[in-house]
Amino acid sequence: MAFSKRTVRNIPISGATVLVRADYNVPLSGGKISDGLRIQASIPTLQYLLKHAGKIVIISHLGRPKGRDSSLSLEPIAVRLEKLLGKSVTFVDDCIGDKVVQAVKKAPKGSVVLLENLRFHAEEEANNREFARRIAKDTGARFFVQDGFGVVHRAHASTEAITQFIPSVAGLLLEKECQTINKAMEKPARPLIAVLGGAKVSDKLQVIERFVDIADKIIIGGAMANTFLAYKGHHMGASMVEENQHKTLDKIYLAAHKKVEGSVEDFIILPTDVSVAKTPSQTATRHNVTLGNVAKGDNALDIGDASIERMIEEVSGAKTVIWNGTMGYATVPAFAHSSARLALELASHPNKTSIIGGGDTADFVLGWGEAENFTHVSTGGGAALDLMAGKKLPGVESLLNA
Ligand code: 3PG
Repeated sequence: MAFSKRTVRNIPISGATVLVRADYNVPLSGGKISDGLRIQASIPTLQYLLKHAGKIVIISHLGRPKGRDSSLSLEPIAVRLEKLLGKSVTFVDDCIGDKVVQAVKKAPKGSVVLLENLRFHAEEEANNREFARRIAKDTGARFFVQDGFGVVHRAHASTEAITQFIPSVAGLLLEKECQTINKAMEKPARPLIAVLGGAKVSDKLQVIERFVDIADKIIIGGAMANTFLAYKGHHMGASMVEENQHKTLDKIYLAAHKKVEGSVEDFIILPTDVSVAKTPSQTATRHNVTLGNVAKGDNALDIGDASIERMIEEVSGAKTVIWNGTMGYATVPAFAHSSARLALELASHPNKTSIIGGGDTADFVLGWGEAENFTHVSTGGGAALDLMAGKKLPGVESLLNA
């Protein structure tokens, strides 16, 4: 699938100072990086630039700080980058100002400088032009490389406004994410099955609509399945059911009825049983009930065992599986069964194209197999979802065309 934007490979970067936007918004626990997928995924572009360019200056956000917040400093990322790149990384505790100017000036050719969290400045999320101009000017960068796939669905100063000041191209991660996801959506090896979990129908409406259009089957799980089942008239006890989704689901089923000739129930596959508990505590045990037997205080926290078998049977016949959203309350072991079975099924069939949406789904599958066991584990949560939904991504749109 041709990528329509210019990339690091198509610009004269020899000796140039290059500004790279990465997405180092990684989970931290007690100041330690608990999942380094996004940092690891940024390395090929950095290595490419180290080989071909002059100096590299990296910018990123971390979390959603309101002003400066030392618990969300990017300093621990500099330490991880040093290990992965095998060379020292200079950390500067701001992303604009004289410190930045001096650090970049002093840095010898072939060095890497990481600037502090962009979101310590409110101007970043406001897509402020003057802030973007300052970053461009203070770093003295000749080119801007967008490689933070996870953040390109945001129109922020470091994804949109900055591109008005420096010639801007895509990095290798951004290119790979867009190409792989677009190819699986637009020219999939069929049958294509979409497995959609997570909490809310309203978060995934556009992506569900797109899959109704392009998938051969859609399997629904997660708390989202409760909303579908309640819509179908099933009593869901104390389960999480999203309110006011009737019109949305009417629309989805109308489109599905228009598309499929046979039974819509075999196209949008809902659970036939669910696994319940009173509360999702870490020590809760799994109790399977068929639909129609969900009691008043029952909380459906995973699809049931029979539904897991059906899901695996369907997936085993697919050539492409696109999975977005965990299938149950996957942080509690008793309700991670469906997600774990699916992760293992995909990881043990490397010939199948398996595309794993980012965020919680990526975190989950990486606990059950190495990233290499899947065709693609996306580093984007909201960005991957928007790309799958066919939306325009501001941080990609603003780059130079190929
Ligand atoms: C993400 O983790 O989805 C991205 O880094 C974007 O972060 P945000 O949702 O805080 O904008």
